[in-house]
Amino acid sequence: MNILVTAGPTREKIDPVRFITNHSSGRMGYAIAAAAIEAGHQVTLISGPVSITPPDGAKVVNVVSAADMAEAVHSLAPLADAVIMSAAVADYRPANPWDSKIKKLPGNLTLTLERTEDILASLGANKTPGQLLIGFAAETDDLEQNAMGKLERKNLDWIAANLASDGFGTDTNKITLYSRSGQKIPLPSGKKIDVAREMLKVILT
Ligand code: CTP
Repeated sequence: MNILVTAGPTREKIDPVRFITNHSSGRMGYAIAAAAIEAGHQVTLISGPVSITPPDGAKVVNVVSAADMAEAVHSLAPLADAVIMSAAVADYRPANPWDSKIKKLPGNLTLTLERTEDILASLGANKTPGQLLIGFAAETDDLEQNAMGKLERKNLDWIAANLASDGFGTDTNKITLYSRSGQKIPLPSGKKIDVAREMLKVILT
């Protein structure tokens, strides 16, 4: 199969020397890409800025912002049999990034943020027939309820749910998979590569 995986955070420009980002390390997405290559699939990895090395055999597309990631996903998704969106895409970006470095002044500075495109929701809204769409939900609260809400809202086939405290910035993860057809499959917790192998076994068979 031709599998498109997204991974890592995005960076949203505030000014030429500052940005907004999050704690995603990219390790879960890179592990999924590695496990998919190992299983004999063709893998394209669209990656935000991370400090880890992509698996041998992946075609890598590096992006920075949520807008860059949206452009890359929209150009490559039509060729994919499965799209696995593990990237932690920013939901908001500065509405008016500065062209020059912001100089400090007395008092507070207010930054206005605007919504970015929800890439996964766009894919779900124009779903390619036969294409598997898999999302992630990293939550601090109400994991099952939030994950199932996203599965429904974004028109996904599967969602991989984990508590932010179990997966962000660590080498291990604890994931439960929920399917559109109502299945709930807790995966054995462990190293991200092992979790990725188990995850692919479930969603690709
Ligand atoms: N995602 C995306 N584009 C965005 C934000 C998120 O494609 N701009 C994808 C992520 O890659 C992930 C899934 O959507 O697979 C879940 O993202 P999340 O931000 O947690 O979901 P939301 O529906 O935006 O809900 P929340 O209010 O929790 O942010």
